[in-house]
Amino acid sequence: MTDHPHPIEDAIRARRSVRGLDGPPLAAEEVEALVALALTAPAPHHTRPWRFVEIGAARREVLADAMGSAWRRDLEADALPSKTVDRALARSRARITGAPTLLLGCLVADGLNRYTDERRWRAEWGLAQHSFGAALQNLLLAASARGFAAYWISAPLYAPDEVRGALDLDATWEPQAFVALGRPKGDYRPFDRPAPDLGTEFTRR
Ligand SMILES: Cc1cc2nc3c(=O)[nH]c(=O)nc-3n(C[C@H](O)[C@H](O)[C@H](O)COP(=O)(O)O)c2cc1C
Repeated sequence: MTDHPHPIEDAIRARRSVRGLDGPPLAAEEVEALVALALTAPAPHHTRPWRFVEIGAARREVLADAMGSAWRRDLEADALPSKTVDRALARSRARITGAPTLLLGCLVADGLNRYTDERRWRAEWGLAQHSFGAALQNLLLAASARGFAAYWISAPLYAPDEVRGALDLDATWEPQAFVALGRPKGDYRPFDRPAPDLGTEFTRR
């Protein structure tokens, strides 16, 4: 706790990526409450570019298989030793199949300005991605404040077609990230987080 009267600041400092997750899955209303908070994030041009999916147990194996095949192709093209590839894939599979609750966040381009030149379209899509980060931070902060453990998994961004296919998602939904959620395992210790370094990370002109 700190000596100022802003609980939000304590919540921001207290949030950590907690990868040691215990069950049970979050209740449906708990998931909906967290997603509803994510959906209050700022977004460009008054758009609502986010779509969230709760991924049930029945889809997890198919999803892990599809994403694993795509990642294996990438890692083998990088010429990584097969043991390293197998270890990475097994870890990733366990995170997908083992998360007590698994959410997928997607973006849609509804309401974005459609530019014909690549430079402005990239910037416009960048706006949507910024708002996705804001939405996920809302969700992670709210999860932490409610005593849940959660962390961001960026793998869907690297295998969007496989994720869409495994979950039967509309072609206009662009998978961005999973959030794995559960209860914090008693013995889990988050990685050290460096203190904010205003000397390097902030300047005035
Ligand atoms: C865009 C983005 C992608 C991330 N991808 C992953 C991921 O794939 N796997 C993972 O374990 N953590 C992932 N993280 C969590 C970061 O590793 C974590 O936020 C960072 O180490 C700082 O730790 P903290 O969240 O506890 O402050 C991601 C975070 C962000 C913002």
